[in-house]
Amino acid sequence: MTLPVAVLVSGSGSNLQAIIDRIEDGVLAARITAVVSNKAEAYALARAQNHGLATALLPHAAFPDRSAYDAALLAAVRDSGAEAVVLAGFMRLLGADFVAAYRDRILNIHPALLPGFPGLAAQGQAAGYGVTIAGATVHFVDEKMDNGPIVIQAAVPALPDDDAQSLGGRIMTLEHRIYPQAIHWLATGRLSIHGRKTRLAPADMPKADMADAMPCLVSPALEAGF
Ligand code: GRF
Repeated sequence: MTLPVAVLVSGSGSNLQAIIDRIEDGVLAARITAVVSNKAEAYALARAQNHGLATALLPHAAFPDRSAYDAALLAAVRDSGAEAVVLAGFMRLLGADFVAAYRDRILNIHPALLPGFPGLAAQGQAAGYGVTIAGATVHFVDEKMDNGPIVIQAAVPALPDDDAQSLGGRIMTLEHRIYPQAIHWLATGRLSIHGRKTRLAPADMPKADMADAMPCLVSPALEAGF
């Protein structure tokens, strides 16, 4: 069984690439039905095409208002046959109708340890604030920005000389591991939401070998292959 997912993107698509790679490895039990971008210049579209994936360009500026855009986006996602939606650097807030249509079936990744540093340029916010631990969060999406129940977080050291770029790079390395893992958990029916909390059903999986990684904290623990 593989979960059909639509991936929404706006930018470089490195998280999309990590998802594609884990699917092609046979580790992540999902298949991508469509990659939809609101930006024509998003390199994510080229990455998708390189792997033979269906793509759609839906520039938000071409629509009169947010609800018209959301309706078109929802139609594109639904028509692709997706049963879940993965936001991978998609720089738009989803409207209530979209969220309702895929409630508890939409994931987002944010480059900070939520609820700290929501919104734009989170890596620069964290570096500028002077935190000593930073990280990334995969969470379910609701109507509010960077708000839904958390699925997995990964923490990395933040150093005094870090700027947005250096800290962001360290965070990104773990984004590429935790996002495919979270999608796999969703795809295999192991996530359940209880208020603000997400529970992960156990599985008989060996834990990932983190010996090659930088010092980091990942909770819940990664599993083999991720
Ligand atoms: C990532 O930092 C992600 O956490 C944030 O947007 C960025 C997307 O990068 N939501 P990419 O397009 O996946 O390379």
